[in-house]
Amino acid sequence: MCGIVGYIGKKPAAKTIVCGLKRMEYRGYDSSGIALVDGEMFLRKCKGKISDLDSKLDYENLTQYHTGIGHTRWATHGVPNEINAHPHTDCNSEIALVHNGIIENYLVLRKKLQEHGHILKSDTDTEVIVHLIEYFYKDNPLIEAVRMALTKVEGTYGIAVVSSREPERIVAAKKGSPLILGVGEDEMIVASDASAIVEHTRKVIYLEDGELVEIKRDGFQTFDINKRIVSKHIEDIDWDIEAIEKQGFDHFMLKEIFEQPETIRNAFRGRVLPLTGNVRLDGLQMTDEELNSIEKIIFIACGTSWHAGLIGEYLIEEYARIPVEAEYASEFRYRKPILNKHELVFVISQSGETADTLAALREAKQKGARVLGITNVVGSTIARETDGGIYIHAGPEIGVASTKAFTSQITVLVLLTILLSRRHDMTLEEGRAVIQALEKVPESVERIFGMNDSIREIAELYKDKSNCLFLGRGLHFPVALEGALKLKEISYVHAEGYPAAEMKHGPIALIDENMPVVFIAVKDEVYDKITSNMLEVKARSGRIIAIASEGDEEIKEIADHVIYIPEHSRIVSPLLTVIPLQMLAYHIAVLRGCDVDQPRNLAKSVTVE
Ligand code: G6P
Repeated sequence: MCGIVGYIGKKPAAKTIVCGLKRMEYRGYDSSGIALVDGEMFLRKCKGKISDLDSKLDYENLTQYHTGIGHTRWATHGVPNEINAHPHTDCNSEIALVHNGIIENYLVLRKKLQEHGHILKSDTDTEVIVHLIEYFYKDNPLIEAVRMALTKVEGTYGIAVVSSREPERIVAAKKGSPLILGVGEDEMIVASDASAIVEHTRKVIYLEDGELVEIKRDGFQTFDINKRIVSKHIEDIDWDIEAIEKQGFDHFMLKEIFEQPETIRNAFRGRVLPLTGNVRLDGLQMTDEELNSIEKIIFIACGTSWHAGLIGEYLIEEYARIPVEAEYASEFRYRKPILNKHELVFVISQSGETADTLAALREAKQKGARVLGITNVVGSTIARETDGGIYIHAGPEIGVASTKAFTSQITVLVLLTILLSRRHDMTLEEGRAVIQALEKVPESVERIFGMNDSIREIAELYKDKSNCLFLGRGLHFPVALEGALKLKEISYVHAEGYPAAEMKHGPIALIDENMPVVFIAVKDEVYDKITSNMLEVKARSGRIIAIASEGDEEIKEIADHVIYIPEHSRIVSPLLTVIPLQMLAYHIAVLRGCDVDQPRNLAKSVTVE
């Protein structure tokens, strides 16, 4: 959801900034721009992807600039075009600013600024900030002008500001949008996320809401909005540049699908205790007494993370016998939820920055609940604001459609299920069996990759269909939702996920020979029921793709196509059944010529409400 970057230091700024923007392009990709300062200002913006900006820049003639800022945009206010692209500048083209977030009182500010003679050129909310800075810049240094401007602004922001009058500094500030400062040797880089920074340094500081930072090439100083100096702790990022490169894969999504044996293993490694049939999740920071007194659990999340939460609900209710609800973050925060101190809230978020999830977290905390996080990005806002939690350790996920983060979230939820169930009815043997089942998953996922060619062939047959249904029961209902989401987000095929039995209450009306229906039909306690649903589809000439258990030959008589998955224990089933659905969505999108890693209108990290 918009990426911002600022660079000051020994290297030419233009190339460094554009490379940083490319790393963050998954955050937004409808327009981009760059501003460089050195006594005067160089500004270039354009509609489209970073590659369009890249091709417009004559780097040879920009080597004198060592300070600058850049932006990749996901439009909120104003259509994606060159005028609305960031950086935005003041009336004199002296100050340039990039912004991630939303300014809520921009209409009032805009009117006031116009009354003071400011000429605003764009339709964006952002532009008011740079004119406010201009207003205060007359008698103040840049850092003070930015601080004063921010006292007038309501909403969320991560900003970076440069001025041609003070080319030896960048001023950045944060409230509600992520911002990280990379501290290098004779260079500093500030960015919305660490992927733009790791190439230069692994030493970072995480800015907190309400903080401003004045950045020079050899140092920085942080302040709060009341001008008080704030001292910051420099932290280390524990992954490197390789983790955010494609490494020979055509797309990040494909690379991330194929990383899953490793990422699933990383999520349980060191946490399972095979001897005692239990797990350790020290990050929860809960005593035995607190764990024993949980009366209810609420999972709060958005998108794919919400699907993981729904799987968590099914697992924990079934195995640990604790009531659970999975809630959409955006709904939770506005529907006046009832919480008591024995209810435990988990927010689930890959990025740790999703605005609705963050707001729900704050709402739950404010109501006195203990709020824990299941996040991927270490040091993200959600990770820092929760009372404890579980990192999924999936490594950077760049493809906009989440894949490896989803399976890592489920893995962690299986661990949580073991932890809670062992305090209730799960026996030592059962605990050990679940751990064994989990340990087998990476190898089984590898075996599913062996079906890649058959899945591509199925994709060839159905790539031109306009609709697709995904049906599953029990634990596979959320998997059906996830399969449908994957397909619609990257291939723009209309897809719906449903509990298989609900098909009779509506979707069945859509079924004819043009409707592919994906069934998750592995051998479990609802197998007979799901095959009945398949027959209902077959009777109406629907085309059936079944995800089935290895060895199930009978299913071939009903389904048009079968994708087999290895035998497994029920509790880990979603970790396997979702893999072919990810692969199917990927191949259909590629065959339809879609931009798999950067689907239209979407963003990886949704930092606006
Ligand atoms: C966006 C992404 C999804 C993601 C959702 C929640 O919609 O495109 O892939 O599942 O946000 O993001 P989070 O980072 O909170 O898991």
